[in-house]
Amino acid sequence: MKGGTRAIRGTFFDLIDDPWKHIGKEQEAARFVRDGLLVVKDGVIADFGPFDEVSPRHPGLEVTHLRDRIILPGFIDGHVHFPQVRVLGAYGNQLLDWLQTWIFPEELKYRDRDYAREAAGKFFDALLAGGTTTCQAFTTSSPVSSEEFFEEATRRNMRVLAGLTGIDRFAPADFLNTPEDFYRESKRLIEQYHRKGRNLYAITPRFAVGCTDELMRACRRLKEEYPDCWINTHISENPSEIRTAKVHYPDCEDYTQVHEKHGLLGPKFTAGHGVWLSNDEMRRFSKAGAAISFCPLSNMFLGSGLFRLGRAKDPEHPVRLSVGSDVGGGNAFSLIRVLEEAYKVGMCNNTMLDGSVNPREQDMAEAERNKLSPYRAFYLATLGGAHSLYLDDTLGNFDAGKEADFVALDWNAGQLAMRWHQSLAVGGEGPQTIDQAAQLLFGVMTCGDDRNIDETWIAGERAYKKGEK
Ligand code: GUN
Ligand code: ZN
Repeated sequence: MKGGTRAIRGTFFDLIDDPWKHIGKEQEAARFVRDGLLVVKDGVIADFGPFDEVSPRHPGLEVTHLRDRIILPGFIDGHVHFPQVRVLGAYGNQLLDWLQTWIFPEELKYRDRDYAREAAGKFFDALLAGGTTTCQAFTTSSPVSSEEFFEEATRRNMRVLAGLTGIDRFAPADFLNTPEDFYRESKRLIEQYHRKGRNLYAITPRFAVGCTDELMRACRRLKEEYPDCWINTHISENPSEIRTAKVHYPDCEDYTQVHEKHGLLGPKFTAGHGVWLSNDEMRRFSKAGAAISFCPLSNMFLGSGLFRLGRAKDPEHPVRLSVGSDVGGGNAFSLIRVLEEAYKVGMCNNTMLDGSVNPREQDMAEAERNKLSPYRAFYLATLGGAHSLYLDDTLGNFDAGKEADFVALDWNAGQLAMRWHQSLAVGGEGPQTIDQAAQLLFGVMTCGDDRNIDETWIAGERAYKKGEK
C-alpha cells in the first residue's frame, strides 16, 4: 500500500495522557473505541475515531477488519542490545562478570558483516513477534554492527534509534574504541544514517565504568555538533558497577554527575536501569528532562535490584520513563513480559512498606504509584516511551499525524485461552467498555507473551502475522 490510503477497522485502545496524573480515575488518560476506524495515508494516521463517524468521511476506502482483537499502538523498547540476540539466557553471573564472560566475547564477533547481518534479521523478527515497532538499541564498538542495524531497520521501514556503542576501557583490548576513532566513526554514521528514512542516531557511551573522560568528551563534542541527536547509556544498575564508576570518577559526587559534568544530561538523553539512583539524582533527571529506561526483566535476571517506580513518578519531580527489555540482560524480547515483571517489581517495592522493614522510606503515595495498572503499563510501553524519547509528536497513540505503527492483540491465545478472560470478553463480542478492555489488558500483560501478538503493523503495512513466515 506504500503511498496509498487504507483503513483498519476494529477495537482500539490507546493512551492520550500519563495515567499517573489521573490517580483514581485513570480511564481519563485512555481512549477506547469499541468499533473504530483508523485511516492511514502514506504510513501516517490521517483520521481516527468511531467507525460510524469516520467512515462517511472516506467513501470507497479499502477497509481491513481485524475482528476479535484489541489494537494498540506499537510497543516502544527504550533499551535493548541488538548484538546480544544470540546470548539470551546466559547462566550465573551478575552484571560485571556477565559482561566479561558472555557479552564482550559475543559482541566482538560483530566485526564480521555476515554475522552481524544475520543477527539483525533475527533481531527485528523477534521485535515484531513481540509487538515492538520501535526500539532504542545498543550496537557494539565496531561500526559494522551499527551499519547492519540501520540497514535492516531501513529495509523494514521501522522507526529506530541506535549508535556506535563506545567503550575504551574495561573490556578486552580488541573490543575497545579509542576516543578519536569513536568520534570519527560516530560522525560518519550520523552523516550516513541520522534522519535517513526513519532512522535516528543516538550518541552512545556504553557506561561510565567503560568510558574514560576522553571518550565522554568526544560524546559532548558530538552532541554539540549534532544537537538533534539522542544520547543513550546505562546508569546505576548494579552496586559493584557503581563502586567501580566511583573509583574512575573520584571528582563526581554520584553517577549522575558524570553525565552532568560532560554536558550530556538533558532532553533526549536516556539511561537504562537507574535502579540505585538517589532521590536527588532522580530530581536532577526530572529537572534536566532526561529519561530512564526501566528494565525489570534484566534487573531481576542479573540480580541488579528493584527499580523505584513510584519514586520516579513523584508528581513534584517526575522522570520521563520508558520500559526496556535490555536483551540479553533481559531474558525476553516481549514487552508484555517486561510489563509483567514491572508489575511484580512494584508489588515487591510495596512489601518494603511493612512497618518492620521500610528501608526505602516510602510513603503511601509512593506505594500507590508503584502499582502498575494496565493503564500505566501500556502507557509506559507506548505513549510514555515516546514521551521519554521526545517522540510523542510522532509515535505513541492513534492521534492523526502520527506514524501508523500498531499491534493487534489476541486476548484469547496462549495460556489466556483457558482463562476467564474468554468470558470477560463478553460472550465473544469483545470488550464493551474501557474497564473491560483494561481488565483484559491486565490479563494479557500478566499472563501473556508473544502468543498474544497476532499482527504487527509498520507504517500502515502488516509486517508480522503470527504463524506465517
Ligand atoms: N552496562 C554496560 N553494558 C551493559 C550491557 O550490555 N547490559 C547491561 N545490562 N548493562 C550494561
Ligand atoms: Zn543494557
